[in-house]
Amino acid sequence: MLVNDLAHEMVAVKGYNAGIELAGKVADFATRELLEKILKDEDGHVDGIEEMQDQIGHMTLPLFLTTQL
Ligand SMILES: [Fe+2]
Repeated sequence: MLVNDLAHEMVAVKGYNAGIELAGKVADFATRELLEKILKDEDGHVDGIEEMQDQIGHMTLPLFLTTQL
């Protein structure tokens, strides 16, 4: 589940980065600022998933799941 979630988050990050680049090229700075805020959230999602994967790697899945109750 986390692998798939991370893959989709990375697609979102790539899309928002492309949108930010385009908004900058057409001087739509309001949209660019909005997309940058959303991208920051998406980056946080990526970090959260990677942190959970790291924890699972250290403590094994069954023990990790006991921390999620
Ligand atoms: Fe996300």
